Amino acid sequence: MNDLLRVNGGTPLEGTITVRGAKNFVSKAMVASLLGESASVLRNVPQIRDVAVVTGLLELHGVTVKSDPDGGILDLDPSNVESAHVADIDAHAGSSRIPILFCGPLLHRLGEAFIPDLGGCRIGDRPINYHLDILRQFGAVVDKMPNGIQLRAPRRLQGTKISLPYPSVGATEQLLLTAVRAEGITELTGAATEPEIMDLIAVLQKMGAIISVDTDRVIRIEGVDRLEGYSHTALGDRIETASWASAALATGGDVTVKGATQPEMMTFLNTFRKVGGRFDVQEDGIRFWHPGGDLDSIVLETDVHPGFMTDWQQPLVVALTQAKGLSIVHETVYENRFGFADALRKMGATIQVYKECLGGRDCRFGQRNFHHSAVVSGPTPLSAADIEVPDLRGGFSHLIAALAAKGTSTVRGISLIDRGYESFQDKLVALGADVSRG
Ligand code: EPU
Repeated sequence: MNDLLRVNGGTPLEGTITVRGAKNFVSKAMVASLLGESASVLRNVPQIRDVAVVTGLLELHGVTVKSDPDGGILDLDPSNVESAHVADIDAHAGSSRIPILFCGPLLHRLGEAFIPDLGGCRIGDRPINYHLDILRQFGAVVDKMPNGIQLRAPRRLQGTKISLPYPSVGATEQLLLTAVRAEGITELTGAATEPEIMDLIAVLQKMGAIISVDTDRVIRIEGVDRLEGYSHTALGDRIETASWASAALATGGDVTVKGATQPEMMTFLNTFRKVGGRFDVQEDGIRFWHPGGDLDSIVLETDVHPGFMTDWQQPLVVALTQAKGLSIVHETVYENRFGFADALRKMGATIQVYKECLGGRDCRFGQRNFHHSAVVSGPTPLSAADIEVPDLRGGFSHLIAALAAKGTSTVRGISLIDRGYESFQDKLVALGADVSRG
């Protein structure tokens, strides 16, 4: 029963909360520690399930992890890295997609790696073909097994020229984590350049890597023979920040997010302003609030950085149900990220999904039968409902809807949200929400 949250909604969220390091950076920086000959220290680490999963996987491979969870500090010592048992890796990987990023570091350290079938949110097919192509190009031998993928490096991995068909975040990280210790130069065109990737590059540079980020999505890496540990403070979580900002807007509230920084949030802040939300960038965070009166409908297209992040889309759509007029949302990163709209409709929202590319340009999913555009008509009052969490960001969006709705909603499958939102229930209570578990 611990997996259920009762939300008595209809009250504006008001107050101050703190956001720590980005889930989608911290897990990668933890993997990078495997590449060092000495220990690393990572600060500003949130207590979320993805960090626990990666900690478990690192420990299985012989990394000693010392954690000060309240201080948000991890000490990662890879001096005794060793192969892990397939069954243990399988059991530990859980719902995460991070194991795929262990490939390069393990191939360098041990000459082999086993990657279990991957989890992650059900927001599209989420293939790993780019990852495997990259590893093969470096010289790895990849064998598909019934329960995962076995990889071997018959000799030192070799630098190479790679062009990504789409600027995938994970594939860019795969390449970075592999190229830094490969022999020779690697050149990637079509790279993703998300702030979390730039912070990973900063970590690798601290470790001794030579990486240049050129214009037009080109990254060049000069392989080195040896890397050391790093000491680094993770950048803040811009997805969690946008989630709380959207919650403030949808509930008519006023939320200050300490730990939020402006440069990584610029695209979101522009959109937040266009919808009619107000914000104030402060020394140690950003205050987001609903100024009263009508919100404005918008046309929105998700994209890779520096575009509007796909992970910001779901929380903001809940706020758009309260905006006056028709909003158009075109999701161009994942083909299946509107499943969460069913629950919103059940709560009274008017959201229609379309297979066509609405709103501007054609994307990879046009003419391919994916419901990847939505029209939101508002404002519509939301009413309480029984809802089930579909995926991490969709689940948080359901929570926002329940907080905005009058009456008591039950949100099931709430533990999925622990994957990426640190102490979210405590934060909700701190913002005045009436919520209880079980
Ligand atoms: N893709 C392929 N083949 C591949 C890899 C990706 O076709 O081998 C496609 C995907 O199917 C998708 C697109 O490329 O349509 C973009 O995927 P990308 O590889 O960029 O995503 P990812 O690395 O799997 C990370 C985050 C996601 C975030 C995306 C986009 C982590 C652990 N996950 O995923 O975060 O949405 O980048 O910014 O870093 C979340 O935090 O809830 C989350 C889903």
